[in-house]
Amino acid sequence: MPGPGFFIIGDEEKREVVEVLEGGYLSRYGQLDNPGFKKKVITLEKTVASAIGVNYCIAVNSGTSALMAALVGLGVGPGDEVLVPGYTFIASISAIIAVGGKPVLTEIDNSYTMDPNDAERKITKKTKVIMPVHLLGYPCDMEKLMAIARNNNLMILEDGCQAMGSTYKGKKLGSIGDVGVFSLNIFKTLTSGEGGFITTDNKTIYERAYGFHDQGFSPLRKEKGIGNWSLVGINLKMNELTGAFLLGQMKKLDQIMDLLKVKKQKFKKAIKDGGIKNIDFEKVNDPGEGHMILTIRFKNASTALRAAESLGIITLSQSGWHVYNNMHQLLTYEDSDGKRPYRKNMLPQTDDILSRSINLSVGVINPGLGSGFGISILSSDEEIQSKADEIIKALKPIVD
Ligand SMILES: Cc1ncc(COP(=O)(O)O)c(C=O)c1O
Repeated sequence: MPGPGFFIIGDEEKREVVEVLEGGYLSRYGQLDNPGFKKKVITLEKTVASAIGVNYCIAVNSGTSALMAALVGLGVGPGDEVLVPGYTFIASISAIIAVGGKPVLTEIDNSYTMDPNDAERKITKKTKVIMPVHLLGYPCDMEKLMAIARNNNLMILEDGCQAMGSTYKGKKLGSIGDVGVFSLNIFKTLTSGEGGFITTDNKTIYERAYGFHDQGFSPLRKEKGIGNWSLVGINLKMNELTGAFLLGQMKKLDQIMDLLKVKKQKFKKAIKDGGIKNIDFEKVNDPGEGHMILTIRFKNASTALRAAESLGIITLSQSGWHVYNNMHQLLTYEDSDGKRPYRKNMLPQTDDILSRSINLSVGVINPGLGSGFGISILSSDEEIQSKADEIIKALKPIVD
């Protein structure tokens, strides 16, 4: 089941795509004076850079590609350690392995994002990058993480794949660290089925990431045929049809942020007004905008299990998508020394928090995340109240 962007696909996207079809030119590169070449990807990159508040954006074919190119942009390679939370989609971790780096898993805290204290403890001489993941649109504690990074001469890659448009202390996520990335798959704030963005203010990171996404060439292939290209890249480019569709979606980003904010506030208030005792909600590093989920935390795991069952959903530790404990491919992964660095229950704080928590949908309805119950950005006030009533009725006898 999809995320917010999917719910409001309409004429804006259609118009943009039809323009490209009529022009008949589908590659991101073309003759600028050819009227058939509509320059959608180039325009999109400028639009996204301005919306996020950075100098540069590269549009790519997935969030995973964005992560790999950003890591190469930061110079991550064999032997480099990257700190990444154990509660994230596996792509945050697999992208590090794909470029030869070593993911070092950190705990999360009650914000369901990277615990800065644990991240600091896990820094070694080999650490090069900290990768906070703004999971479910929840912003990480960027002030603390930035301070830790600067004090230890490390760089920050914000995995904002689930947080396009969300904010932290008035700044858009993806504009705070050295580089940010976004995904445009079907579960995300904006979607084109597949796609991704890299955002940065840093010219060197931009040029390296650009080169990695297009065979080592310099931005926009400015030199023709022969150039001093020193980085070997691959092909992760976005095509014009996807770029056009996304220009239509970009027009709706502010509207989606407003809807997420308003609907979540109403949903949370309606549940709070029910006076359920002994529950907590996610610790919010910044109330900001763009949270895709409402999370409830119970005092113990058995209560969370009973609560989840009563709503027909699963607890976060039972969720297949985001929990390192359930990533079989990671638990069986052998590094170049033949060692298995990741094992079940290696993050006790994360395990405890996830075992006591359930997700309710606001922007993304996905049983695999445990958010198979809740509201959507299109829910009316009556629907929001009725869902909250169902929750209150189900949870009160269990927790009070
Ligand atoms: C946190 C996170 N990082 C990276 C990715 C990878 O994005 P994509 O599926 O576009 O490759 C995802 C996608 O679900 C994600 O949620």
